[in-house]
Amino acid sequence: MSEKGRSCPLAYRYQPERLCDDGMVVAEDVIFVVGGLYGNPYALDEIEQMALAEEKRGHRVKLVFNGDFNWFNASDALFRQINNRVLDHSASLGNVEYELANPSPGAGCGCAYPDSVDQGVVERSNLIMEQLQGFAGRHPDIQKRLSVLPRYRCLIFGGLKVLVVHGDPESLAGWGLAHESFAAGNEKRLSEWFLASGADVIASTHTCVPLLWSGEVSGRSRVVVNNGSAGMGNLVSDPRGLITRIGFSSHFAEPAAGIERGGLHVSLMPVAYSVQRWRQEFDQLWPAGSAAAVSYRNRIFKGGSVRPEDIIFPSPV
Ligand SMILES: [Fe+2]
Repeated sequence: MSEKGRSCPLAYRYQPERLCDDGMVVAEDVIFVVGGLYGNPYALDEIEQMALAEEKRGHRVKLVFNGDFNWFNASDALFRQINNRVLDHSASLGNVEYELANPSPGAGCGCAYPDSVDQGVVERSNLIMEQLQGFAGRHPDIQKRLSVLPRYRCLIFGGLKVLVVHGDPESLAGWGLAHESFAAGNEKRLSEWFLASGADVIASTHTCVPLLWSGEVSGRSRVVVNNGSAGMGNLVSDPRGLITRIGFSSHFAEPAAGIERGGLHVSLMPVAYSVQRWRQEFDQLWPAGSAAAVSYRNRIFKGGSVRPEDIIFPSPV
């Protein structure tokens, strides 16, 4: 079996204790962490509208793109559009951008898929990446802008440390904050990561399945949030994307899930973009039988596999 798409390049790795060495102070009132836009321009339109809705209520919004904003944007025009729009904001690398900017021999998509993911999915992701690398190679100005993005960000927000990592606190493509890791019980590792980094909130994405965890570590409230995907459906029979909203004010619309700890609200907000318009464009970019159509079309237009009651950890008894 090829290891392409299963392994994790060495450059993806970092140390939890260094992640909050340099914090970026957020002056805005609300943070939207957008992980996994996956090249969907209509989801991006909707996220901008959501930010405007906040601003109309007097809340300034900071948009933070947490990697994998490229994926289905397989045309020259859409490749440029997505990157130019996203790179106007704060952004950090996902494995997709890393492999577009610095292709690693043998990394494939750089997803570091675990054994639980079917080999067909891995091979199709590698094919999507190869196709996308072709576009990146024709737009060296964008490739250069991607190459200087950070691998993670530590935001100082209202005196709290919000650590934004694409995968987990050890690797850009780590699966340690995946839904299955929480379901299997990862409290010890979580405690170590919180203590090492000093983070109050860790926001992740990459594994494409949303979750919201809260607990106490060393006498302080801590939160982990994974927004799943901003540009694809996440929940059963629900094609809406999800983003993470963090603020000291409550959310402006009905969240898919949310918690409040010490006045801080962390919510997963639905991205109700125009599915019909994206379907028309997606079907042209990725016709029936193509790698992306086989792997993702169902999920994009019909929804994911998670039930809303399975988002929250620890599970309410
Ligand atoms: Fe990723």
